[in-house]
Amino acid sequence: MKAKMTVNKAFEIGKIDPRIYGSFLEHMGRAVYSGIYEPGHKTADSGGFRDDVKELVRELNVPIIRYPGGNFLSGYNWEDGIGPAESRPKKLDLAWKTVETNEVGLHEFVNWANEVGAETNMAVNLGTRGPDEARNIVEYCNHPGGSYWSDLRRKNGAEAPFKIKTWCLGNEMDGSWQIGSKTAEEYGRAACETAKVMKWVDPEIELVVCGSSGAGMPTFAAWEATVLEHTYEHVDYLSLHSYYGNQKNDVANYLAFSVGMDRFIKSVTAICDYIKAKKKSDKVMYLSFDEWNIWYHSNEQDSKNEPWQQSPPILEDIYNFEDALLLGCLLITLLKNSDRVKIACLAQLVNVIAPIMTEKGGDSWRQATFYPFALTSKHGRGTVLRHNLNVPAYDCDDFKDVPFVESVAIHNESEIVIFAVNRSADERVEFSAELQGFSPVGIAEFSEISGHDVKQTNTKNACPVAPKSSDAASVNGNRVTAGLNPLSWNMIRVGVAESEAE
Ligand code: AHR
Repeated sequence: MKAKMTVNKAFEIGKIDPRIYGSFLEHMGRAVYSGIYEPGHKTADSGGFRDDVKELVRELNVPIIRYPGGNFLSGYNWEDGIGPAESRPKKLDLAWKTVETNEVGLHEFVNWANEVGAETNMAVNLGTRGPDEARNIVEYCNHPGGSYWSDLRRKNGAEAPFKIKTWCLGNEMDGSWQIGSKTAEEYGRAACETAKVMKWVDPEIELVVCGSSGAGMPTFAAWEATVLEHTYEHVDYLSLHSYYGNQKNDVANYLAFSVGMDRFIKSVTAICDYIKAKKKSDKVMYLSFDEWNIWYHSNEQDSKNEPWQQSPPILEDIYNFEDALLLGCLLITLLKNSDRVKIACLAQLVNVIAPIMTEKGGDSWRQATFYPFALTSKHGRGTVLRHNLNVPAYDCDDFKDVPFVESVAIHNESEIVIFAVNRSADERVEFSAELQGFSPVGIAEFSEISGHDVKQTNTKNACPVAPKSSDAASVNGNRVTAGLNPLSWNMIRVGVAESEAE
């Protein structure tokens, strides 16, 4: 099968905000305790944080991490996580029915995030709490000093403010499972008043208001419209959440889920623009896809969990090759919408539906989904170019007319980087790209992940689902050609001449 891409230097979708490669770490399961933090572990630093995990998080390239939840957030008192660790309270977490020790809190997380090269995307509890606690935490984190909360931060060891820029106004407030869930009217009003006081404390911050917890929610679309009616001029981003799974065990159908993600993004964009028009506003509402991933492998196991354990193993999905391919397609889809999606968070980071796994007292390793994320984040920086792709399509159970190749082309200073997934299980794709307005000088790298059984996983002992380099790509004039193996994730980095690339 042939796939013919055409890009033109003059036609851009948008500049990639690095925060599109964000992740998410919730106080749940073994994400924090025996994930990033394990005093006594052979790699633990003086504060108890595992150096082996820090190294993997750095390799994953996540510029921002959302914290501390998630469903956990809606019952969390941030003040429980400050001050001397030995006097912090142990509390029941009603969201995941576990016990939270609060050994790790605000200072520990912000310091750890800095160490792994990430900003903090902090969330405020709008389940059991409201504007007062939200303005206090902004004062604590971002005000230089001379007030009760900022001086308490200094007393607790952080002289300089944390300068946290991105803040979420609650989490999934439309869901009945959420502690303190609300109607769109109730949440819209609460979010508006909370946003006002948070920005009065620090006008530099950016705020994410909750959209629906999924496109399948009965209130989806109406929720977004009502919430934005209340908050449009006070917030900067609207959130989207979506999780995927191959419950039907049908790889062609599974790999088409990125088409669904694209539709979801387009629908939410349309709602934002409807409210913009209704309000006669000049402001563009951007999107924060702050929870996305594959989540289904662990469902059965988690239904057997005993309540009120301390950091039990929950949501420990073990990912396989077909998950890596879908994750590649989902990332490409986020990038193709980079004119509106400015923040996105792979949910989550360590142990809980995560690309990084750890063993308590033992090793850490990269799941099958690790590499497509790490490499896209590392090389997918710059500007997304609009492209046309001529390629055959297929129909499956949930979608019609799904292109066999999912792809995106990115221009950075000296390269065009193409990410492409071949969804066909039996046909190799002869891929070509005409790079109009560029002078390609050669293939800098062609890496692929291919040739595995779709159910192949990585383990602590072996990581077979990993990229390998291929020489099946070449440049001829302004045309690049590459062979995309059946069921493959591909990254083609093409060097382009300086003079032409400017
Ligand atoms: O990421 C796991 C959970 O999924 C989060 O806590 C919640 O926000 C979502 O439902």
